[in-house]
Amino acid sequence: MGNELAGKVAVVTGGASGLGSAMVERFVAEGARVVVGDIDAEKGRALADRCGAAALFQATDAGDPGQLTRLVARTVQEFDGLHIMVNNAGISGKMHRSILDDDFADFQRVMSVNVLGVLAGTRLAARYMAGHGGGSIINLSSVGGVQAGGGVMTYRASKAAVIHFTKSAAIELAQYDVRVNCIAPGNIPTDLLAKASSTMSPEKAERMTRAMRDAMNRDRPLPREGTPADVAEAAVYFAGDRSRYLTGTVLAVDGGTTAGKPLLRRNTGAASGSS
Ligand SMILES: NC(=O)c1ccc[n+]([C@@H]2O[C@H](COP(=O)([O-])OP(=O)(O)OC[C@H]3O[C@@H](n4cnc5c(N)ncnc54)[C@H](O)[C@@H]3O)[C@@H](O)[C@H]2O)c1
Repeated sequence: MGNELAGKVAVVTGGASGLGSAMVERFVAEGARVVVGDIDAEKGRALADRCGAAALFQATDAGDPGQLTRLVARTVQEFDGLHIMVNNAGISGKMHRSILDDDFADFQRVMSVNVLGVLAGTRLAARYMAGHGGGSIINLSSVGGVQAGGGVMTYRASKAAVIHFTKSAAIELAQYDVRVNCIAPGNIPTDLLAKASSTMSPEKAERMTRAMRDAMNRDRPLPREGTPADVAEAAVYFAGDRSRYLTGTVLAVDGGTTAGKPLLRRNTGAASGSS
């Protein structure tokens, strides 16, 4: 690894596992100091311990602006600054076969974490950054926020909101040299998908997760699945100075899924285009 983020201080919400922990570890490897905010104290503390003096854990529910305020304040206090804010914490909500079956029981929670968490995290970081020479804010959207589809309607709406908000905040905050960009991952194996089916029987959940993963694999032009490290790579790029002329952008880290259908259908080997 390089030294791309030497001297920088970052916050990663939802940083205890999945894509978040890959970003934390990569940021530290690039010379940054990182505060991990997550509701999972066990995993968050273990990760901070592994990273040594370069990382701290603070128990934080990203859906609660008061807790985010304490997260940012502690970061500035302990590490004397804030240059990078990654609003990564996100939940899928419950998977439904159809909008016709959706009771919206988890609407408030999904919106609080995925939308309010991103808005409040952006505002808090930007308030500090605006008076301290600027910074980089990275919001996690999803292919589900770019592309229409079924199953998790509230999640899709929340992730589309993240994109629109990110672009709007980028316009407002540009005058302070605060850059705001989105990463829209797709099809990266983490616990996210399994959590969407956690109310089903284990067998049904496993069947559904496998079916969804197969469908996503068929829809992705690049033959390989992505990894959390692929998302961490994009985050380092947005966090560091190489992307200094980028703001208000959405980077799909999805193997080409949102670009279009693959030419070859991998399940049958038959060409879907012209012969
Ligand atoms: N994995 C993918 O392919 C994928 C695709 C599209 C978008 N995303 C987005 O990337 C982000 C990370 O997803 P992931 O796949 O790593 O998910 P994950 O479920 O594996 O990990 C999420 C992390 O966030 C934490 N978290 C959950 N609710 C929280 C809250 N209220 N406050 C603080 N922390 C909380 C969890 O404890 C966990 O550590 C999410 O915003 C997700 O929507 C992921």
